[in-house]
Amino acid sequence: MFYSNLLITALAATTAIAHPGPHDILPRAEIQRRSDMAKRCAEHVANFNQQRMAKRAMQKRWERSGHNTTFEITTEAPYYENIQNDTCVLTPEVTRGPYVWPRSQTLRQDMTEDQVGIPLWLDVGVLDMATCEPLPNALLDFWHCNATGSYSSFTHLSPNTPFEELLSELNITDYDLGVTDLHTDDTTWLRGMWPTDENGVMEMKTIFPGFYVDRAIHIHVQVHTDWSLRENGTIIASNTVSTGQIYFDEDVEEKLMSVEPYASHTQINRTTNADDSVFSQDTEGGYNPVVSVVPVDGEDLANGMYGYITIGVDTTAIETFNK
Ligand SMILES: *[C@@H]1O[C@H](CO)[C@@H](O)[C@H](O)[C@H]1NC(C)=O
Ligand SMILES: *[C@@H]1O[C@H](CO)[C@@H](O)[C@H](O)[C@H]1NC(C)=O
Ligand SMILES: *[C@@H]1O[C@H](CO)[C@@H](O)[C@H](O)[C@H]1NC(C)=O
Ligand SMILES: *[C@@H]1O[C@H](CO)[C@@H](O)[C@H](O)[C@H]1NC(C)=O
Ligand SMILES: *[C@@H]1O[C@H](CO)[C@@H](O)[C@H](O)[C@H]1NC(C)=O
Ligand SMILES: *[C@@H]1O[C@H](CO)[C@@H](O)[C@H](O)[C@H]1NC(C)=O
Repeated sequence: MFYSNLLITALAATTAIAHPGPHDILPRAEIQRRSDMAKRCAEHVANFNQQRMAKRAMQKRWERSGHNTTFEITTEAPYYENIQNDTCVLTPEVTRGPYVWPRSQTLRQDMTEDQVGIPLWLDVGVLDMATCEPLPNALLDFWHCNATGSYSSFTHLSPNTPFEELLSELNITDYDLGVTDLHTDDTTWLRGMWPTDENGVMEMKTIFPGFYVDRAIHIHVQVHTDWSLRENGTIIASNTVSTGQIYFDEDVEEKLMSVEPYASHTQINRTTNADDSVFSQDTEGGYNPVVSVVPVDGEDLANGMYGYITIGVDTTAIETFNK
């Protein structure tokens, strides 16, 4: 059975911190503690990223060799102009938002399904802040909206209506994040999970996200340890050691949003990172939650891209959310 091989017991974490509650922002002191922890690892992050880039170039050549692709992978040139020593995000536990839906998050390496958009191969490296070493067997859990702003499992909620208005249309007066059930269907696109390998790295194939009202373009990500799955690939149990959102550069977004099908989303104006309320929380403590991207054809991001980001986690800081 396929999944039984993946019922991996990851790092056993021993100490739990107090759960910050449904509105999920950690106390400043805790953010500062993690920030200090991450800074200790700065040098390791740079080394890790450097190794990661070298390794990826080799992996790509191998992975693509049996496939008929319409682009050539340039393995000679470095993927990024500079190795950023600060690509490490130890996300200060920003909100999961209202569109988390664990029962639609399944184990797979391609979560695109039938969604149209610019291909994105998202690579994430996970660093254990306690040891400054890569963290293997961490399950990375992603969800994001489609090219015109909708989330699967919530497709009947308009991406153009501010959240408070949506609640009022639904006659909901006592909304509680993680408790109130707003899901409208069982679609699963653009939701998926995959574990890090022995080098602490994993890759998820998806599309570049679009945007919805009042939010910058983002991808939600959680990191789970000690996870186990059902036969249909959803999580039965896990320790969640990080909950964050990752972003892209404004100039990348401006370019890609002018391309179809993104360009047809004209009902609302896109919120930039600078104007986003959660982005500023994600950059607390000097972290960089912005994905580095490189075009797959070496020329045009609109033809598809590789993205890379490192996430630093504190394996002892366990959040316990209701599933
Ligand atoms: C960034 O990492 C490189 C490679 O490890 C190192 O040589 C350089 O000093 C680092 N820069 C900073 C500002 O830490
Ligand atoms: C690869 O795909 C191209 C374009 O679709 C096609 O022309 C070519 O024959 C394919 N080559 C192989 C070996 O399948
Ligand atoms: C997986 O199984 C669980 C438990 O039966 C169910 O709640 C969930 O909807 C299923 N998810 C998918 C994607 O099949
Ligand atoms: C995004 O999802 C919504 C809801 O299913 C759908 O109506 C819309 O066409 C999708 N957008 C694109 C670009 O396919
Ligand atoms: C909300 O309440 C109004 C007034 O009672 C009602 O007309 C409407 O159908 C309700 N909407 C929903 C989604 O229940
Ligand atoms: C978008 O912003 C522009 C410039 O501020 C404004 O003129 C336009 O009405 C806005 N469009 C929508 C759909 O809000």
